[in-house]
Amino acid sequence: ELRARDVPASTDDFLKQYEVDDTDVVLTSDVGGPISDQESLKAGGRGSTLLEDFIFRQKIQHFDHERVPERAVHARGAGAHGIFTSYGDWSNITAASFLGSKGKETPVFIRFSTVAGSRGSPDTARDVHGFATRFYTDEGNYDIVGNNIPVFFIQDAIKFPDLIHSVKPSPDSEIPQAATAHDTAWDFFSQQPSALHTLFWAMSPNGIVRSFRHMDGFGVHTFRFVTDDGKTKLVKFKFRTLQGKASLVWEEAQATSGKNSDFHRQDLFDSIEKGRFPEWEFGVQIMDEEGQLRFGFDLLDPTKIVPEELVPVTPLGKLVLNRNPRNYFAETEQIMFQPAHIVRGIDFTEDPLLQGRLFSYLDTQLNRNGGPNFEQLPINQPRVPVHNNNRDGAGQMFIPLNTAAYSPNTLNKGSPAQANETINNGFFTAPSRGASGKLTRAVSPTFADVWSQPRLFFNSLLPTEQQFLINAIRFETSNLKSTVVKNNVLIQLNRISHDVAVRVASAIGLEAPAADDTYYHNNKTSGVSVFAKKLLKL
Ligand code: HEM
Repeated sequence: ELRARDVPASTDDFLKQYEVDDTDVVLTSDVGGPISDQESLKAGGRGSTLLEDFIFRQKIQHFDHERVPERAVHARGAGAHGIFTSYGDWSNITAASFLGSKGKETPVFIRFSTVAGSRGSPDTARDVHGFATRFYTDEGNYDIVGNNIPVFFIQDAIKFPDLIHSVKPSPDSEIPQAATAHDTAWDFFSQQPSALHTLFWAMSPNGIVRSFRHMDGFGVHTFRFVTDDGKTKLVKFKFRTLQGKASLVWEEAQATSGKNSDFHRQDLFDSIEKGRFPEWEFGVQIMDEEGQLRFGFDLLDPTKIVPEELVPVTPLGKLVLNRNPRNYFAETEQIMFQPAHIVRGIDFTEDPLLQGRLFSYLDTQLNRNGGPNFEQLPINQPRVPVHNNNRDGAGQMFIPLNTAAYSPNTLNKGSPAQANETINNGFFTAPSRGASGKLTRAVSPTFADVWSQPRLFFNSLLPTEQQFLINAIRFETSNLKSTVVKNNVLIQLNRISHDVAVRVASAIGLEAPAADDTYYHNNKTSGVSVFAKKLLKL
């Protein structure tokens, strides 16, 4: 019975078995004998050191291999443990067991991050911020690998290496803010205008958060909820900060990073140590499967939000972070989040960005861990028993007793049974989902309007926030060396708002293009331009 096991009230209970207490003990070799390790074994007092000195070799050798590759993106981060509590029994919309009853508690770990900087980069850089949440549910681990900005730069995962190569530090100097790095990033943004909406969010106060505690989190893609009887709804996830949203202005961020480049990491750690536990409300926007273009954009397009005026957020539960990691490497660094870590009751959508992510995280983590057994690391182990026919590989931690590690088998020496008949027909996938169509690499025309929502976003800001955004774009574009790139940026800004293009152009000594009414709408909620209406045949 899958639901029988109680989830422990905190991850503490589980991780404790792996903790090593070094008080009042004698130093040992890696295989257990008592040693002292302060002098190497030498021939005569003045050396040379002998090759036979295994104490020297094991100490230095382990040290030489202490580093693992940092994450390809989101390398800089901080995390904490906590508890999610469900507000109710949500089995009418999802079979996910952690949402199955009022007051049900599930341990969580959240890792916050910046995207572009390396592991030692300063915290207060302007960037998108990662908001990755793992729920250790009683039916396995569920990860929402999200950001503090509800949309993304690209619509197809095949462009991800292009995006990241354009924003990472300059290849020659490896300086993040080098003029060449500015030019490559803005060259990409202006050639790939699907990036504009996320760019606007990042140039707004959302790009320089006051702390991790003061930011929201979003699942970005549209996902599916699936009930026990196979009914589905489309959903968008949101974590609303209960501390309130707050940001730093540019000058504050600069000064802060000079004084304390660990500012966000320290803020999170200190708040939790002092018992001021940060909280978020977890909710979903729930939408019917039918009419996926009804709002004037495609619900599968990750560059679009669903305005909350059209579909309000239904709060499902509350998340509290209440315990710091005891060891950064073993917990925050070794946690391997994946969008593919789903549980029964939650399913993907066809969003081509999401589909690519389902491959990428597993692939990169094989590299980060140096082998296929990283799910056995303490922080990655689900809080339910794991039974599979995987065998061997570097770092295997278990001793499987089953001598028939394959299916089907007639010998059945303790083999796990297939779940098909007992659990939701063996499907994580919604039973009603289909897939068909002619092969094509073309982008869907329903993904083509990338200017209406940045305009909607700009219109929704207060005048001071609008000025903050314009100042940020002025600053960034004034650092561009290439006039071609500057003009391309103005062409794209002009499709969002002639006013924005003029205000930026005046600061960098160029002319904005003429206004083009086909792109503009003046709606604060839905925001569909003439251009979009034509595309979607509305
Ligand atoms: C890591 C979010 C798109 C590849 C991360 C992390 C977050 C994140 C929060 C850090 C996870 C952690 O703390 O360990 C997002 C969001 C995306 C997105 C919200 C779009 C909606 C993509 C795409 C790709 C990608 C399209 C590639 C096709 C990666 C890789 C890592 C990563 C390789 C490093 C993972 C690791 O080493 O464990 N992403 N990402 N991401 N992301 Fe994404």
